[in-house]
Amino acid sequence: MEATTTATASLKIGDKSVELPVITGTENESAIDISQLRKETSYVTIDHGFMNTGSCTSAITFLDGEKGILRYRGIPIEQLAEKSNFIETAYLLIYGNLPTRDEMAKFSTLLTRHSMIHEDMKRFFDGYPSTAHPMGMLSSMICSLSSYYPQVLEPQNKEQMDLTIGRLLAKMPTIAAFSYKKSMGQPFIYPLNSLSYCSNLLHMLFAVPAEEYILDEDLDHVLNLLLILHADHEQNCSTSTVRLVGSSQANLFASISAGILALWGPLHGGANQEVMNMLQTIHENGGDTDKYIAMAKDKKSSFRLMGFGHRVYKNFDPRAKIIKRACDKVLHKIGIHDPLLEIAKKLEEHALKDEYFIERKLYPNVDFYSGIIYKALGIPLNMYTVMFALGRLPGWIAHWKEMTESPNTKIGRPRQIYTGETIRDYTPIDKRG
Ligand code: SDX
Repeated sequence: MEATTTATASLKIGDKSVELPVITGTENESAIDISQLRKETSYVTIDHGFMNTGSCTSAITFLDGEKGILRYRGIPIEQLAEKSNFIETAYLLIYGNLPTRDEMAKFSTLLTRHSMIHEDMKRFFDGYPSTAHPMGMLSSMICSLSSYYPQVLEPQNKEQMDLTIGRLLAKMPTIAAFSYKKSMGQPFIYPLNSLSYCSNLLHMLFAVPAEEYILDEDLDHVLNLLLILHADHEQNCSTSTVRLVGSSQANLFASISAGILALWGPLHGGANQEVMNMLQTIHENGGDTDKYIAMAKDKKSSFRLMGFGHRVYKNFDPRAKIIKRACDKVLHKIGIHDPLLEIAKKLEEHALKDEYFIERKLYPNVDFYSGIIYKALGIPLNMYTVMFALGRLPGWIAHWKEMTESPNTKIGRPRQIYTGETIRDYTPIDKRG
């Protein structure tokens, strides 16, 4: 389905007036199409952070920030969280519909058969210090896959592209787990074809050769839930990065590698790690949430309530609501009382009654509670953003695929307004003051 032109917008600049087309999508969102603006007026627009600018039309994910709605290919996130699993949701995002039983069997087998990485790639890890952050290792290893699978350089070949997509989904958990084992100084644990996607990941993360790793169905279930909730979120910073890099016809592995690095930032995917650092700091300082709420409001302080606020959601992030409920269930099941969860709940309760947060429509986002569960699963802090990347991978792939298949795609090259020096001559060095 494409957007339709439904009206025109009149723009008056001085004594000149131009008519610009208005397009409307399937959820009645409308945009002014400014693709001819510079040609017709010599003007460009400027929009720091693209807060009001659409980069593309997309049929993958719909979200309504005012109503707190999130749907993947039209299916509400709440239904997918309750009824689906991560591999089925990945298929939905990438190929547009829920898989038939036969399609699901073929897709699962593809991911199972390609979960190992080339033995030579293990040597890459030898060069990293044990203190290397796993996100840096993950990005470079994903980019290096193109050295072993040059077919990725033929996106026009659909058969090859489906195999490349399968290889990426299958190998990223293995690379992530190897990055963790490297940081722990433990031997790499290979994937087992007998395990499901999430159980395989838990097994590769936590098994050691010295003893049998006992899988827990409940942990498999909650990991599926977390990965589903992170799977896509329309044109967020890292997905826009994947699209921009891919628009130059850079291959899929290179585009995903760039997306991983954008996600690493503490204002984006790195926030889940920063939330836990914040909760731990508050806990170590006596749990005085009022003091930290005051700091978050103080413009002279650089402190932000990590895990709060969102560029689009001006209501509850539906993912945060689901994760918060899962926190209580997982901690109860494992028999853990985590004081950080109590601090998180106190912060939320206080903030939601505070005028500063209400006025700015700042609510808990997907990162606010997710770290509590990762911690309960035994996942270490520096792997939280890696877990976000594993969840977001199908969304990145879906957007890269949609962008490469779209006839509207052009290489991304924004304009600017120059504010530097006007013309001046070169000054020889002996004449410079
Ligand atoms: C993700 O885009 C996506 O979809 C992202 C994501 C996804 O799934 O891909 O949802 C994942 O990245 C979630 C966001 C994780 N980041 C954090 O939790 C970091 C803390 N939050 C923020 O820094 C901030 O809220 C952002 C970055 C998320 C959004 O920033 P915006 O939209 O640029 O808003 P802003 O920084 O201009 O803030 C508006 C006002 C400012 O106050 P005023 O200047 O109007 O007085 O709100 C204040 C900000 O100071 N504010 C906060 C705050 N977030 C915004 N004040 C205190 N604590 C905060 N967390």
